[in-house]
Amino acid sequence: MATEPFVYNSPPRKVTDSELARILRLDAMAEFDAINLYAAHLDATDNEAARKILAFVIRDEKEHFTLFADLIRRLDPDQAEKLGEAEAMVDAILSLPIGASEDAVDKKTDEIKAKKSGAK
Ligand SMILES: [Fe+2]
Repeated sequence: MATEPFVYNSPPRKVTDSELARILRLDAMAEFDAINLYAAHLDATDNEAARKILAFVIRDEKEHFTLFADLIRRLDPDQAEKLGEAEAMVDAILSLPIGASEDAVDKKTDEIKAKKSGAK
């Protein structure tokens, strides 16, 4: 079912930046949904023309997601902080055994951040 453009999630006034960030999270989620839908359709066919178009559009949707994510980062300082920590946190999780505690992950994340800031 198609989304009705002027009813679904369209408030009757201009929104605040905080509300806009919430709207853009939904838009970003729609891009992910589109990527997965097109990938499934690409996998479902051997039609070379369709495969080329779907592969092209998937790259486009990934760019759209990235643009929304960056705009959300600019509108939401807490989100920006979390995004800034993500790489170090993922590195920390990957360096620890499965089931490591949140405290262990936090400690390792801080170590990695300190190491990276010292390396600059
Ligand atoms: Fe898109």
